[in-house]
Amino acid sequence: MPRLVVISNRVVVPDDTHPAAPGGLAVAVEAAMRQRDGIWFGWSGEKAEEPGPLTIAQRGNLTYILTDLHPQDFDEYYNGFANRVLWPILHYRVDLAEFSEADFDGYRRVNEFFAERLSPLLEPDDVLWVHDYHLIPLALALRARGHANRIGFFLHIPMPPADLLTAMPHHAELIRALTEYNLIGFQTENDASNFSRYLTRVVGAATPDGRRYHLEGQHFRVGVFPVGVDAEGFRQLAERAERSQAAEDLRESLGGRALMVGVDRLDYSKGIVNRLDGYERFLERFPEWHNRVTCLQISPGSRQDIPEYADIEAAVSARVGHINGRFGAVSWVPLRYVGRNHSREDIAMVMRQARIGLVTPLRDGMNLVAKEFVAAQDLDDPGVLILSQFAGAAAELDGALIINPHDRDALASAIDTALRMPLGERKARHRDMFAVLQANDIRFWGPSFIEALTRPGRTLNWLSSHALSH
Ligand code: G6P
Repeated sequence: MPRLVVISNRVVVPDDTHPAAPGGLAVAVEAAMRQRDGIWFGWSGEKAEEPGPLTIAQRGNLTYILTDLHPQDFDEYYNGFANRVLWPILHYRVDLAEFSEADFDGYRRVNEFFAERLSPLLEPDDVLWVHDYHLIPLALALRARGHANRIGFFLHIPMPPADLLTAMPHHAELIRALTEYNLIGFQTENDASNFSRYLTRVVGAATPDGRRYHLEGQHFRVGVFPVGVDAEGFRQLAERAERSQAAEDLRESLGGRALMVGVDRLDYSKGIVNRLDGYERFLERFPEWHNRVTCLQISPGSRQDIPEYADIEAAVSARVGHINGRFGAVSWVPLRYVGRNHSREDIAMVMRQARIGLVTPLRDGMNLVAKEFVAAQDLDDPGVLILSQFAGAAAELDGALIINPHDRDALASAIDTALRMPLGERKARHRDMFAVLQANDIRFWGPSFIEALTRPGRTLNWLSSHALSH
């Protein structure tokens, strides 16, 4: 079996003493890599004036190879083009994009730097799998150094319609860089078809079937590979965690009130402010639930040097204060807001105790929190998932109460519906969703992508040929 080399911007070497890195990419790639020998290459999360030697760490059969970034690269590539242009535009927020030519140069420079550091480590038959929007030009930079390996790319976040993509300076250059990959994977059919429309209408690519493409001498393929979770593993983790002291403390602090929980990186794409507005509307419209519910929002800070992230932090804190001031009582805090990172075990424990999971992003590639919430539930007394129609997960989890996150009345009504939902309906909805999680378990995700990358004759529409037939 050829060696697998995974490359992503952020790489965190697992360490029992620290909570897991937040974000779906880290969880998914870690699970995919667990099954085989390989290398995981990327940024250490540290800045250094001189890049210095690579840091190498071995965990089981996986070798982590990390590089630091120069502070200017960190500013222009990570805080700049990746997170102030690509992130907002790919999440349909052209209004938040802040473009500068210097940042774009920094983005290209770091992709060259990654290629330069990776190049001597590569062997001709390695299979390379590049992850996410930070590294779109990496294949081009590797090809320029003579690497003819099979290279795949997976986008963890959404691909917006062509009209939004064309608002991005240098869009054609970036999309052409993507055509250097042999296979480009997306989370949902919607993302793949947005990309397809861009390819055929904006840059004039030809395709016989919406999967194989041809553009200016390049041949490449597009596929849909929705990221899943370790459904049974997470269920067991939650079951075990339910017996912990932390679980006992939480139960006691709730005093019998129904818990609803949101777990999101503090990011404007997650719709946290809209969610809190929906919760406020719920408290306004359904006073019979006062003192009978507690909402817990867990939101570790993220990308804090970027002004839009500081703004969202201020907006969320203000809403929390406003709601508690307006509805709270001396013996009841309607909304708890926690900014610390938590271990996966604690998150699983909180999810299992919750009557409602609130996953209401304004736009999200997949959202693994939605899937983990379903996995964490007690089969005999499951909670209800309230899920945004704009999360990739909504394409799979139709047992959730699907809402429009911009409509606070819809969210308020959904909370009331979820709280009143009879056990029989909760179980039926949960059973359907858990079956979807099992059919699309994370252990199929990596192998199906690698198989499509290395055996091009195989189906590229893996979900429709596999998961939906269950
Ligand atoms: C999302 C992105 C990942 C990213 C993660 C955490 O899940 O798709 O690429 O790693 O957020 O964000 P950060 O900027 O802290 O790496």
